[in-house]
Amino acid sequence: MSISLVGKSIGESATLKLNETAAILRAKGEPVIHLGGGEPKTKPPIDALVAAAGLLNSGEIRYTPAAGIPALKQAIIRYTDEFYDRTVETGNVIASGGAKQAVMVCLQAILNPQDEVIFPVPYWVSYPEMVKLCGAVPVPVRAADGSFHPRIQEIERNVTSYTKAVIINSPNNPSGVMYADEFIKDVVELCEDRGVYLIMDDIYHRLVFDGKKAANCYRYARDLSENSKLVVINGVSKQYAMTGFRIGWAIANRKLIKVMTNIQGHQTSGPSALCQHAAVAALNGIQSSVESLRLTLENNRNVMMARLESFDGIKATKPDGTFYCFVDFSHYNKDSTKLAQFLVEKVRVVTVPGVEFGMDGHLRLSTCGSIKDITEGIERMKWALDPNAPNELYIGDHKLVRDWM
Ligand SMILES: Cc1ncc(COP(=O)(O)O)c(C=O)c1O
Repeated sequence: MSISLVGKSIGESATLKLNETAAILRAKGEPVIHLGGGEPKTKPPIDALVAAAGLLNSGEIRYTPAAGIPALKQAIIRYTDEFYDRTVETGNVIASGGAKQAVMVCLQAILNPQDEVIFPVPYWVSYPEMVKLCGAVPVPVRAADGSFHPRIQEIERNVTSYTKAVIINSPNNPSGVMYADEFIKDVVELCEDRGVYLIMDDIYHRLVFDGKKAANCYRYARDLSENSKLVVINGVSKQYAMTGFRIGWAIANRKLIKVMTNIQGHQTSGPSALCQHAAVAALNGIQSSVESLRLTLENNRNVMMARLESFDGIKATKPDGTFYCFVDFSHYNKDSTKLAQFLVEKVRVVTVPGVEFGMDGHLRLSTCGSIKDITEGIERMKWALDPNAPNELYIGDHKLVRDWM
């Protein structure tokens, strides 16, 4: 079979594959604990459900403009005003099939083959593949001190004449850390000075803990004219627990939005009318579900950290936000894929191997599930890895006997 070079270069989505593995095991009745998930378990806001149901009842579910319905653009403009203190116009907005599509059409609009795109390690699994889909070259930048915080000098050292864009995701998937305001300021200035696009993936910016606030990149921009190469990505998936609705957006200069709209128009047309109406209702409706989700996630993070503290040999950095914790398990196994497979096989705990995010030896643990999932999941992992643990473990009335170590 003849497959394109781009097609051959793209790997399977590790997270989607894990969801599939967990679903298959669950369907067989296995007591799986899924610490690999990337979506809140809470319900979407009732306003969103009612709006979607209303449109469904009307039967008037048609094509929409390629960049989204006017009501959604207005809701995004209001959101941008409220959370970024920035006034934009409809020409600066595109609504897409999730933040994922917003990032993808943005990259397709700006990249030529051989162009380079810089992003810090660890990174969201899709960035390298999306860049490769454009025939361009991903340039992950790793902090020399092994932390999750590359210094601005490390970013700058990787800027070449081929660099077209920098992508920053803060708070970050998979580490949960938020980059310091000073770092965001430096990145904004660096990109302006070097004339490269800065794509701020702010999808987790309202899911932040300990009274902290995510940085607002616009505060640091010197050029906010239509020449600005600053692109802000956001969406309803995470903050409103609306992952399945597939609505995200980008804010950028008018010319770029027009090109992104042309691409999206031929790629998928506008996002689903039903889901756009639901997103409008979520954005304009009662916001209490976001705060309630944030508080739940902060509590889950605290429980996860407390459990991890009693786990010898690992290194866990406290997340500032998101619903992930990215833990260094290299003491037990430097090969994160093998370790994740071992944990599924032996104790039915699903985690995501760090290698997928550019840092082997780590596992991404999700705090999306229940407290019971978190505590029991970590207990099972400890039992599987700790050579001093008792020989037997009960999962319900299932007795596991250690036949390794
Ligand atoms: C950093 C980051 N950006 C974008 C997305 C995609 O979000 P959406 O569901 O809106 O496509 C995700 C989802 O996991 C993510 O973690």
